[in-house]
Amino acid sequence: MAGGFGGGKHGKRRFTQRLMNKGITRISQAGLLCCFAVLLAQPVRVEALDNGLALTPPMGWNSWNKFGCNVSETLIKSVADAMATNGMRDAGYQYVVIDDCWQVSRAADGTIVADPKRFPSGIQALADYVHSKGLKFGIYSCAGTNTCAGRPGSLGHELQDARQYAVWGVDYLKYDWCNHADESAVSAYSRMRDALQATGRPVIFSICEWGNGKPWLWAKDVGNLWRTTGDIFDCWDCTNKWSFGWTKILDQQAGLESHAGPGHWNDPDMLEVGNGRMSTAEYKAHFSLWCILAAPLIAGNDVRSMPPEIKEILANKEVIAVDQDQLGMQGRRVQKAGDLEVWAKQLKDGSRAVVLFNRGTSAATISVALEDLGYTGAISASVRDLWKRKDIGRFTGKFSAKVPSHEVVMVKVMP
Ligand code: GLA
Repeated sequence: MAGGFGGGKHGKRRFTQRLMNKGITRISQAGLLCCFAVLLAQPVRVEALDNGLALTPPMGWNSWNKFGCNVSETLIKSVADAMATNGMRDAGYQYVVIDDCWQVSRAADGTIVADPKRFPSGIQALADYVHSKGLKFGIYSCAGTNTCAGRPGSLGHELQDARQYAVWGVDYLKYDWCNHADESAVSAYSRMRDALQATGRPVIFSICEWGNGKPWLWAKDVGNLWRTTGDIFDCWDCTNKWSFGWTKILDQQAGLESHAGPGHWNDPDMLEVGNGRMSTAEYKAHFSLWCILAAPLIAGNDVRSMPPEIKEILANKEVIAVDQDQLGMQGRRVQKAGDLEVWAKQLKDGSRAVVLFNRGTSAATISVALEDLGYTGAISASVRDLWKRKDIGRFTGKFSAKVPSHEVVMVKVMP
């Protein structure tokens, strides 16, 4: 489920934006040619984001994928209750984030007003409740006049909203890009970054501009994570308006790996695991690849009523450890032969997490040479199957396994 992008999402990029896209994040006017001086008279200020947060990819839950605009304090409280008791919190899921539609208007003094019918106790009481469960609390707004679902956005109210979030006890802000002004994303998102920092409260800043302005090239200084694509949809490879199946999104991550690291992550969007339109094997593959990508792990299903096989996926500690590895390296595709792929992620202890991925319609054997994982010589390595939680022996030169259709074999390779 997803809302519309609304109007005006393709704002004009300014000259400074183009510089950002070339990786120039600090502008020295003295060092630039004089003919650029006029254009640089009002440079966009880009300073480092230094909030000390998200040293590993953020983990949590968000209302949008399953509930859309149907959010309320009852829902959020029952989700927090479930996460605190069903193993999700203990597996590392921390942030409970209300997406769009919690807000209805602004008061005469500009204060943002939460829907009084759906949130009768107010947002602060809700944040307190989530905190009392040992979890953190997140909220959603938009850099435009209105959110993607048409609710009031933060444009022109950035400081006021950031202060309000700090008073409420917000720990995470997802900030969308619908109905934005005619300015660059780097400028709009930097303004909210500065507003959040001015409050003194540590808040994870999640940039959601869908990859339009190549945020991987500039957003490291602005946010802790940035969406790299349009919205995810609960399917294998469909396209549904502005939303895409997870394999389509996966393909768009190849090549972005050098831009991610502790405190700043590529975000291929929230998980669809458990939302009902895919098989268990397909969800397992989706989750495995998100972990190889060092993606933020934001569950998007109804965690209050998960069948055991879905909980097995979302709460598998060995697979999650790959995502949360402290080295913070995003994995990459190391092999592609038609429908058969190998993805690998270097881990802090020198081992590699490896996913053999079969996108085809029948089972196939997939092999990877240990050299292609970054090891030289005909080395041998111990291999552990992370889904079966089983050591499967020592292999020399290469590792092979039979992989069913639309499934993965995920292993840890330890020389
Ligand atoms: C956009 C975002 C989604 C969601 C909706 C809410 O589509 O990309 O993740 O937040 O807006 O309206």
